[in-house]
Amino acid sequence: MQAISVQSAQGHYDIHVGDALLPSVGAVIAQKIPKARVAVLVVDQAVEQTWAREVFASLAAAGLRVVTLVVHASEANKSIAQVEKVWSCMLAERVQRGDVLCAMGGGIVGDMAAFAASTYMRGIATVMIPTTLLAMVDAAIGGKSAVNLPMPSAALDAGVNSGGAKNSPQSLPTNLPTNLPTNLPTNLPTNLPTNLPTNLPTNLANNLASNLAKNMAGTICAPAWVASDVRTLTTLSAREFRSGLAECVKHALLADESMLSWLETHREGLRAMDPARLVELVHRSASVKAAIVSRDEHEQGERAHLNLGHTFAHAIESLLHGQVHHGEAVSVGLVAMAAASQAAGWWPDADTFALSKRLTDLGLPIKVPAAVDRAQLKNAMKLDKKGQSGAIRLVLLKGLGRPGVLDAASDHVINAGLDAIGA
Ligand code: GLY
Repeated sequence: MQAISVQSAQGHYDIHVGDALLPSVGAVIAQKIPKARVAVLVVDQAVEQTWAREVFASLAAAGLRVVTLVVHASEANKSIAQVEKVWSCMLAERVQRGDVLCAMGGGIVGDMAAFAASTYMRGIATVMIPTTLLAMVDAAIGGKSAVNLPMPSAALDAGVNSGGAKNSPQSLPTNLPTNLPTNLPTNLPTNLPTNLPTNLPTNLANNLASNLAKNMAGTICAPAWVASDVRTLTTLSAREFRSGLAECVKHALLADESMLSWLETHREGLRAMDPARLVELVHRSASVKAAIVSRDEHEQGERAHLNLGHTFAHAIESLLHGQVHHGEAVSVGLVAMAAASQAAGWWPDADTFALSKRLTDLGLPIKVPAAVDRAQLKNAMKLDKKGQSGAIRLVLLKGLGRPGVLDAASDHVINAGLDAIGA
């Protein structure tokens, strides 16, 4: 088991990374939050029948009364309506200020449940138990909680959805899988496509933005503890695991060359889901984020660097809504970022080709499908909430480990990024 300490305004908290942590979750909570009598376990449906059982048993064995709430992870469920269900349940179960909420699952469930915990009775302790690679290295660290808000019709009429608004579906696609498989083969295939998925809907405009303003309501409230048990990664689909690897590459680019080389050296161990390699992967990557949020918890400056490649990625996601995983979009966004960094004169010797090869070696995409329209991508980039007054804001690199923010990127810089990803 490896520990990382994170500083926050509320004191420090630990991230524990290991390969058999779940059976001791109850004992650690009893020690860290001794006043807790009730543990509210908000759990992602994907792990309810598997890993959540270990946590439930461990909490009960530690003498806590366990109240379980199962949530299907979808952007539509990352909502105030779901939060209200959690609040109502806690009220009905007479959950008190000293009790604890355990948020177990991927980023969606973690963000929503942490929002409920950080607002119920003005905040009760939260323990994050991430079960996806993306959540372990990103979402569960730094105390951000969030829900999506429905886009007001006035904003839609004003074309906030980039022209597709009036024809856009009013709700998320309903043909999404309701149950994630828990026993998929965990070995990664060796030859993978380099383009994002191409089974696109015929009318891309209809798919824009899904009428949800993502992460528009939220809090920053440090968890009491983060417990990352890498065994849970073995039941992720190979695609979901690879998506998490994109965030690890992002953290490596924000750190230095050594982590990029480590990813290359240990590719086979990661492919084979070697527990020791997985622990090291999560520990290394989570440490990068932990260091940044320790220095800038409330995103006054440096924390924004975690959006490296994300302006491109968010635009890709909004155009290919439901067709692309966040990490896949991040992978393509990182390639665009490298080319844009070079075009801006920030990183003259940026090697976009070498970065693309590293990403494809990890099974990640580096290009958008041919059907993606450049003008729509640019529109979507302007709508990214990190943009200031219509200008496109990019987080770029001046070299490995040297990020910075370009507030109003020129067309030349943006086009260089889009050229690199085939847009
Ligand atoms: N995922 C970006 C952040 O936590 O700030």
